[in-house]
Amino acid sequence: MLNALNPQPGGRYADGTLGGAGHAASILAASSPTGWLSGCDRDGGAVEMAKKRLAEKFAGRFEVRRGNFAELADWIAEKSCDGVLLDLGVSSPQLDTAGRGFSFQLDGPLDMRMDDRQELTAADLVNRESAEALAEIFWEYGDERQSSRFARAIVREREVKKMETTRQLAELCEKVSPRGAKKIHPATKIFQALRIAVNGEIESLKRGLDAAVKILKPGGRLALITFHSLEVRVVREFAAEKTRDYTFPGAVDVPALRQPRAPQLKWISRKAILPGDEELRTNPRARSAQLRVLEKT
Ligand SMILES: C[S@@+](CC[C@H](N)C(=O)[O-])C[C@H]1O[C@@H](n2cnc3c(N)ncnc32)[C@H](O)[C@@H]1O
Repeated sequence: MLNALNPQPGGRYADGTLGGAGHAASILAASSPTGWLSGCDRDGGAVEMAKKRLAEKFAGRFEVRRGNFAELADWIAEKSCDGVLLDLGVSSPQLDTAGRGFSFQLDGPLDMRMDDRQELTAADLVNRESAEALAEIFWEYGDERQSSRFARAIVREREVKKMETTRQLAELCEKVSPRGAKKIHPATKIFQALRIAVNGEIESLKRGLDAAVKILKPGGRLALITFHSLEVRVVREFAAEKTRDYTFPGAVDVPALRQPRAPQLKWISRKAILPGDEELRTNPRARSAQLRVLEKT
């Protein structure tokens, strides 16, 4: 990430996913003594943690707000940033706190909200949505091939007992698709899909990418860390559109109707940069992380 953004003294950087501010602190350290960081997170706890951590060493060099990165361009000036980082998905403190309801390995309420000011929870989805709507969520956001089986089992179960806890849902998933020799737990994709739906992650990502392009200066870098194939697909589609040197009318690209235009972005690293052995040893959760880098033209 530091190679990608190459932070410099006097540079201005934005981190849309502060989390515990590990990346943010590295950016500020690398851009000492005068680099500036604007950062946000939807999670109130993360924002407090980030503020505290950054204040210890970098007082007067950052602004941190609670909010969705989809809205970065509402408070960061257009063409003002030398680098923008989005490190997508959930953080370790979110996963490891049973009460947040993100983990099928811990028992907690079926919550999964990154921003606890939001009303909709995972329990609302699993107790209210039709079997068809749940199957669609599991298929679309979890790439779950047995999406309808899981959805129907949830609807049957909730008629007997309301779905309230992560353990209840995880056990139901195991009944629907016994683990056997499978490498991943049968609840993995179901939990991922519900989390993405509860937090509107795909919509936020699309809006966040557009906001990032707005706030970048020409020559500024966009570093994107994804954790699953759905995020990768959104990033690839976004990049394909922004790096193209022509537009076309309507939805179909007819070569004869192309209009030339200057692309907004160019690829610096289209191929995913993956964590090395050392990083994987110290941080096994980085195993599915992929970094891609673009530059504003
Ligand atoms: C993988 S963690 C980031 C970790 C961080 N880079 C660090 O160094 O600690 C992802 C964080 O992004 C936040 N997040 C996810 N989607 C968001 C969005 N649309 N807007 C703002 N924050 C978001 C989550 O709440 C979580 O804290």
